[in-house]
Amino acid sequence: MGNVKVSVAFLLAAVFCQLLLLPSPTKDLTDDVNGLRVVITGASSGIGEELTYQLAAMGATIVITARTEYKLRQVANKCKDLYGADVFPIAADLASFENASLVVSEGLNKLGGMDLLILNHFGDVEFGGYQHDPLNFQNALVVNMMSHAHIASRSVQALSQSKGRIVAVSSAVGFLGSPFMITYATAKSALNGFFTSLRHELTFNQSDVSVTLCHLGYIDTKSAERIKDNLILKPSSKKNCASEIVKSSMNRMSEMYFPAYFSWVHVFKTLFPSVMERAVQLLYKNV
Ligand SMILES: NC(=O)c1ccc[n+]([C@@H]2O[C@H](COP(=O)([O-])OP(=O)(O)OC[C@H]3O[C@@H](n4cnc5c(N)ncnc54)[C@H](OP(=O)(O)O)[C@@H]3O)[C@@H](O)[C@H]2O)c1
Repeated sequence: MGNVKVSVAFLLAAVFCQLLLLPSPTKDLTDDVNGLRVVITGASSGIGEELTYQLAAMGATIVITARTEYKLRQVANKCKDLYGADVFPIAADLASFENASLVVSEGLNKLGGMDLLILNHFGDVEFGGYQHDPLNFQNALVVNMMSHAHIASRSVQALSQSKGRIVAVSSAVGFLGSPFMITYATAKSALNGFFTSLRHELTFNQSDVSVTLCHLGYIDTKSAERIKDNLILKPSSKKNCASEIVKSSMNRMSEMYFPAYFSWVHVFKTLFPSVMERAVQLLYKNV
């Protein structure tokens, strides 16, 4: 009986907390963003590119990075033409820790400090049935998780000085698991563990740096098209996704879910793991 009471109390508390997470009325964030010094990884396409446009439009100065230099230049030029914003491209392969360190030091030089770090890049993962290849697996973990930890660690001092913000872009598969993207899900799950724990340590060290972990569902970027034949879900808009990321970081939220119903999915996964596991499998087609 005691267990039932405790379970009901937790369920009610979960419902209450979820209601607090409902999207707040849209507020203009231009005053909050104007003048911020921002570093965005994975900004040559998809959500990172969209984040760059939205933050540039609101008056941020931005360092963007990815491997493909001409695409970064196109994004930077578009920001200059449309918004008069200063956006500095740094081409780097973040599979190398040395390059990741250089992105931070060059970024700090160009911006004269850092207020917001958005760790958004992902790459070098195969989608499809899992084929164990230890070297590919190791490389994927470096690109998709360890480079994020490395860049964040190298940036913490500058962010502490500015009472800044870290955003780590993760995925719902990090807490749900997923067929056909085991390496990716493993990296995202580790990313969740790292940034949740880093948030704890920053709090213990009385740091003012906030950490926002973004758990995204299926978003309409080109790279997500690779899994469209395996999924029966419809993708959500990358524009709305980017604006929710900006909003959650400005509000220093610990966790953000997009689409918002994924916060309920997370609760259900914790309360009813076997039911959620079956539900996840029903979303996939084995092509
Ligand atoms: N789209 C979705 O459905 C979805 C769902 C959940 C979570 N997410 C997350 O959202 C974030 C953005 O995803 P997206 O769909 O916008 O992907 P995307 O368009 O493929 O963007 C990935 C970015 O990472 C860069 N990148 C890849 N490998 C790199 C490397 N080795 N070093 C440096 N940069 C590298 C890419 O540029 P280069 O190729 O030029 O290097 C690109 O700018 C990712 O963290 C992803 O896991 C996306």
